[in-house]
Amino acid sequence: MSDSNIAIEQLFHDARTANGFLDKPVTDATLKKLYDTMKWAPTAANSSPARIVFVRQGDAREKLLSAMSPGNVDKTRSAPVTAILAYDSEFYEQLPKLFPHADARSWYVGNAAFANETAQYNATLQHGYFIIAARAAGLDTGPMAGFDKTKVDELFLSGTTWKSALVVNLGYGDPSKLFPRSPRLSFEEATKVIG
Ligand SMILES: Cc1cc2nc3c(=O)[nH]c(=O)nc-3n(C[C@H](O)[C@H](O)[C@H](O)COP(=O)(O)O)c2cc1C
Repeated sequence: MSDSNIAIEQLFHDARTANGFLDKPVTDATLKKLYDTMKWAPTAANSSPARIVFVRQGDAREKLLSAMSPGNVDKTRSAPVTAILAYDSEFYEQLPKLFPHADARSWYVGNAAFANETAQYNATLQHGYFIIAARAAGLDTGPMAGFDKTKVDELFLSGTTWKSALVVNLGYGDPSKLFPRSPRLSFEEATKVIG
């Protein structure tokens, strides 16, 4: 198989959503590699609004479990690292550094609706990039929308301009806990080619 086919298998065809994790640690170096990969993927005006809190097992994890939906508690307990994926509602304060060739900060200051839409849309893109970058770093992920955002914000993000959006378990997946693979929509069902 060519290198590009191996990458496609690892990132998409063979990668599964983990529902439990092996007792195998994830190093800080792996977390840094993950971030240093995802950060290069594109966002509008290079706005890069995603922010991440990595929570290891221990007291902080116990606190996080109290905000997870009941069905997400056991899998979150088993993960060596759980990431709170957030966005910075004041991401535009970084634009003089991130987009130096234009005054992009002024597009958002005083326009809360546009700023909020840009923050959430681009952070969500980056959260997808996070999952793919984690797979590229050899990790399995378990993304979860089932948690209390207000509670996570109070417990982990108070005093900041960050807001939680998704929680993702990270580690080396336990194959015995996988759900059967669900089908996907076919090319014909999900696309149109026109012109
Ligand atoms: C944004 C998002 C939110 C999800 N929320 C949950 C969740 O709260 N609980 C859960 O068990 N699985 C959750 N999932 C997992 C999906 O059900 C799973 O990724 C999907 O069925 C594909 O599974 P596969 O990668 O094994 O094919 C979520 C996935 C995503 C991307």
